Amino acid sequence: MNLAQLKAGIDQIFTNTQNTSDTLQGICDYLENQISYYDWVGFYFRNGEKEELKLAEFTGEPTEHTIIPFGKGICGQVAVSNENFVVQDVSEQDNYISCGWKVKSEIVIPIFVNDQNIGQIDIDSHAVSPFTPEDEQLLEYVCDKVATIL
Ligand code: SME
Repeated sequence: MNLAQLKAGIDQIFTNTQNTSDTLQGICDYLENQISYYDWVGFYFRNGEKEELKLAEFTGEPTEHTIIPFGKGICGQVAVSNENFVVQDVSEQDNYISCGWKVKSEIVIPIFVNDQNIGQIDIDSHAVSPFTPEDEQLLEYVCDKVATIL
């Protein structure tokens, strides 16, 4: 992974888009396109005051899991843990919500605004054990930047 180049590409999306929705969609499309093992990329945000996440922009196959209660699945766990969750093999997770048999691994990074966990970026991969610390670095960079426009 060329971290510097990917970060520059993310910067370009912020420069070239005029509203939050376009920026988030641009990030999803860009990451899915640039990183071979990113097969589904999406943003979930807290649904108002409810203890649940709601799917926002995404790239990849549509999912029926547009609402995820806090604590449920990898995403719901990150909503309460406030920590990155890197799952190299989803078959080893009990608290996991499947979005299709092809998905073998998943990474979720929370987004903080004023120290509040307000959402997350979620990546599904069809590969087992594809993620390195560089994925976390890149996605933390993305989330920090997204936080500035929310
Ligand atoms: N696998 C997730 C559900 C969301 S999909 O990956 C799009 C989870 O366990 O929370």
